[in-house]
Amino acid sequence: MTPKTFKIKSFGCQMNVYDGERMAELLGAQGMTAADETAEADLVVLNTCHIREKAAEKAYSDVGRLRREDGSKPLVALAGCVAQAEGAEAKRRSSLIDIVVGPQAYHRLPEMVAEATRGARPVDTDMPAISKFDAFPARKRANPSSFLTVQEGCDKFCTYCVVPYTRGAEISRPWSDIVNEAKELADAGAREIVLLGQNVNAWNDNSRGLAHLIREIATIGGIERIRYTTSHPGDMNDDLIAAHGEVDKLMPYLHLPVQSGSDRILKAMNRSHTADTYLAILAKMRAARPDIALSGDFIVGFPGETEEDFQATLQIVDEVRYASAYTFKYSPRPGTPAATMEDQIPRDIMEDRLERLNDRINTHRLAFNRSMVGSDMQILIERPGKLRGQMLGRSPWLQSVHVNTDAKPGDILDVTVVAASSNSLSGTIRQRAAA
Ligand code: 5AD
Ligand code: SF4
Repeated sequence: MTPKTFKIKSFGCQMNVYDGERMAELLGAQGMTAADETAEADLVVLNTCHIREKAAEKAYSDVGRLRREDGSKPLVALAGCVAQAEGAEAKRRSSLIDIVVGPQAYHRLPEMVAEATRGARPVDTDMPAISKFDAFPARKRANPSSFLTVQEGCDKFCTYCVVPYTRGAEISRPWSDIVNEAKELADAGAREIVLLGQNVNAWNDNSRGLAHLIREIATIGGIERIRYTTSHPGDMNDDLIAAHGEVDKLMPYLHLPVQSGSDRILKAMNRSHTADTYLAILAKMRAARPDIALSGDFIVGFPGETEEDFQATLQIVDEVRYASAYTFKYSPRPGTPAATMEDQIPRDIMEDRLERLNDRINTHRLAFNRSMVGSDMQILIERPGKLRGQMLGRSPWLQSVHVNTDAKPGDILDVTVVAASSNSLSGTIRQRAAA
């Protein structure tokens, strides 16, 4: 039976969220409608993440839970990076899986659904030269802050990471496609565009780089804010840094993963920077945009990491005074060089380091948030808050801000910050800013 309803469940990074939205639009264009719950859907797409340990096991157990009490099951599509990594093996490991579709093959999803309804179990993990983006319908719906993937894949081969294998080589979408999509999103109500890519700052089209693209998107009516993530220190060029000082709509926030503060570990990770070259980039950035908020990713317990290496990580955290950060315990990923390195770090040591790192980062996050109390800022309203009458907005520095207001998602408000915790700010309305 041809499915009439679908549910897409996305895990992992923002690029998966974006892909999930595009797959929904693609299925919608086939006449299917989105179901609220997995239990009500004829087709369930699990859009998986492979970045950390037990990712495949988790995906298979999620698949197992799709079997219903009466023994029936929806049509099941395994998508995302686990699908890419497992390929046809996925069908052998779970008889519940009907479709295996990798991140570069989503344009074939409707066709694969049709094949599956005829009893086939199609697998497509190709990385074709033609772009899946060309097959997606125009954007008709947007969030106040909308994601737009501009670049995919990674050529950096950090020794711990599966991304170069699951998402393939670095590919940039063409300039005109991106600008058109940004306009469609603006017409559909987006006020903020978040440009996405595994190495977003490696984006280029002929001789134009990300800074050019940002300047162009800043000219689109309705778009008031621009962000981009995730950047690699090796691709952080002067033009992009300069754009932070020139383009008002470019928000004062940079997510620039460092991973470790120890040069010895950075070398073993095959990162192209040292602690000093990383700090030099941030110094230039702060010169261009003094109020910039900085964020990063950290891995603790990489093979061979000593207490001294870890102290260097704490030191860089103190030097940068991150406004936020994501921290991970090293997880050996099969097929990556680090997985077979000697001197893997015991779990209890990793856990202890993670806790100490998180404590240190939280101290800086809280100090950053508290420094905002009493100041005025503009926030973009995104959605209702937990309490009645409360809405949740975002500051330019990506903090969540709670306010009591009858404003709607997409409104931009002037607020005064009255309180801060390590996770969020509270504000009171000054006045509604002109749209
Ligand atoms: N183990 C732990 N963390 C990892 N990351 C990527 N691969 C691994 C791994 N094998 C983290 C990095 C990266 C973020 C997206 O996930 O910090 O920047
Ligand atoms: Fe993975 Fe390194 Fe590429 Fe980031 S830059 S996706 S951590 S290989």
